[in-house]
Amino acid sequence: MLIAMMKPQQMDKENWSLGESWAIDASETTWTGTETAVKEQLVEEWDDETLVLGIETSCDETSAAVVRGGRDILSNVIASQTELHGEYGGIVPEVAARAHVEALTPALREALVRADATFWDLDAVAVTLGPGLIGSLLVGVAEAKAIAAVLDIPFVGVNHLEAHIYSNFLGNHDVKWPAVVLLISGGHTMLVHARGHGDYTILGGTLDDAAGEAFDKVARFLGLDYPGGPEIDRLSLLGDPEAVRFPRSMIGEPGFDVSYSGLKTSVINYVRKTESSGGTVNVADIAASFQQAVVDIEVAKTIAAVDHTMVESVFVCGGVAANSGLRTGLEQACLDRSIALHCPSIELCTDNAAMVASCGTALLRRGIYTSLDAAPDPNLPLL
Ligand code: KG4
Ligand code: ZN
Repeated sequence: MLIAMMKPQQMDKENWSLGESWAIDASETTWTGTETAVKEQLVEEWDDETLVLGIETSCDETSAAVVRGGRDILSNVIASQTELHGEYGGIVPEVAARAHVEALTPALREALVRADATFWDLDAVAVTLGPGLIGSLLVGVAEAKAIAAVLDIPFVGVNHLEAHIYSNFLGNHDVKWPAVVLLISGGHTMLVHARGHGDYTILGGTLDDAAGEAFDKVARFLGLDYPGGPEIDRLSLLGDPEAVRFPRSMIGEPGFDVSYSGLKTSVINYVRKTESSGGTVNVADIAASFQQAVVDIEVAKTIAAVDHTMVESVFVCGGVAANSGLRTGLEQACLDRSIALHCPSIELCTDNAAMVASCGTALLRRGIYTSLDAAPDPNLPLL
């Protein structure tokens, strides 16, 4: 099978022709589906000055960023759809996809202006290929492909989960592999042994709800706004984390899996029972007690993973990494063991395009590009 690709050449900004196409023999190089292929490219060509445009539209944040050398954020524009979905109490996929269509072009323009760059300064385009909502992914992937084709620059599809890991490298030149990564977001919760770029082993993960999902569901039950994680975090500061002892499922069990459906049900049962017996529910106490249970579970499993792998660094990433209780709990546990803890800034914990650009740069440095034929994959696994 022969697949047409654009010939790599620098395009003149006055000249909008796409150049002659060339053919790749797919028997030598695989370019199908979401697979990436390794092309010959000198690693030095992707140096500290390389400018990569990142695009993230996998869920409910429309984001565009320009990152230099994989680490320095020149711009990171994030248009959140929280208010749009808030009235439904959760993400509505069709609404999200339409909002991405409206927000992406202005976000791209703003990202370039803030970075003091033009399209022609870009060396490559990185975009989230998955996992995520298919309609939302399609918007970002189509835009990224169009930009890469028109500018005749490399296109690289990025796994959203791997991109979260790279949020730890942004603005931080001291971060070093190997590490235990706690990737904790609205869609995923897992512990990963990360030995180096692309060299990962999943140690364990949630058997049911992701931690962020549990935060959002408990918050919804308590009548709090969407997204629930930040709301519970804020309320927890006013409550007593010892008020109710909710179960810490699987905390003492061997292995690195966790489960949140039992904890969520315990909170619901506790509130219903208290109310039906005429008692008053202190929402701040419930929020703080629930959050403390999540923190205890995640800190215990993360430290167990550190002991198991004997690494000296922990990276935490994903939306729930913004949680103040989790950050404090991990800080204390890592301090006690003289282990380095790397936590991205709050803005970089939740979905953003800078992490996509950083991850894309690391892939390009290893000579990994993606075919313009690649399709987004809503279920793209980390491994
Ligand atoms: O990484 P992210 O932006 O999207 C996914 O890839 O899932 O994570 C969003 C999740 C939501 O469930 C949200 O409630 C949660 O992260 N979250 C928090 C906090 N900030 C965001 N959970 C607990 N505490 C927070 N401060
Ligand atoms: Zn995410």
